[in-house]
Amino acid sequence: MNGQERPVIIAGNWKMHKTRAEAVELSKTIRNAVAGEKDLPVVVLCPPFTSLEAALSSCEKSEIQIGAQNMEHRDSGAFTGEVSPLMLKDLGVSYVIIGHSERRQLFGETNTSVNLKFKAALKHKLVAIVCVGETLDERESNLTDAVVSRQVAAALDDVDAADLKTLVIAYEPVWAIGTGKVCEADEANRVCKLIRATVGNLYGNKSLSQSIPILYGGSVKPSNIDEQLAQSDIDGSLVGGASLNAEEFLALVKSGQKKVGLAASRS
Ligand code: PGA
Repeated sequence: MNGQERPVIIAGNWKMHKTRAEAVELSKTIRNAVAGEKDLPVVVLCPPFTSLEAALSSCEKSEIQIGAQNMEHRDSGAFTGEVSPLMLKDLGVSYVIIGHSERRQLFGETNTSVNLKFKAALKHKLVAIVCVGETLDERESNLTDAVVSRQVAAALDDVDAADLKTLVIAYEPVWAIGTGKVCEADEANRVCKLIRATVGNLYGNKSLSQSIPILYGGSVKPSNIDEQLAQSDIDGSLVGGASLNAEEFLALVKSGQKKVGLAASRS
């Protein structure tokens, strides 16, 4: 936990990578490396749907959480190609990424569908990692703050304050994802603070917003994570590319451990 008692979370988004055998190898390596470690952050692995079961059984009886990268919001029905929250819950999945920018940009997800999916996650007690972030055009047009706060407000539309306990928000500037261009740590922190203030204003409750973990994502690597995690309002990382390699991902987990350890020594 950090000073505000928020969990530190290191989440790996494997995107469309890793067959079942590869998923077993990677998740077992991570599981074995973190077993018995002190001050562990929350470690979440998000494989593709087809490797969820492999990752779940490889990480059974460990601290590692398994998440999906997306889901449909309805429980069942004639929705060819979709996977429901009920099915994820049935598998034993505990986290789900919602509204990743690749889903928004390539698969037509909107602020409205993100809101429906977040409510479905709440209904099924899945922890939702809701992604928000501006495109390069939006940043260059000085629209970052407007876009990000609109995405946050839309995701939380018609959601009770009491339901925010299983919410994690990931600030992922689209221009930083998979590009090697990391957002400067103080700027990422400024936007994470804005996200927190947006939640606080929406609910008229500042302390509620202080309890929500906010992650930074976008070209997070072992070489830049420490600077990000040293910020006041960045509680962890959502990692794509660097989560596909055990050594790199474990280095990120180590950085998370340092943050957890530091907070523990201060409290
Ligand atoms: P990246 O991806 O770490 O490869 O930039 C992050 C993400 O898409 O969540």
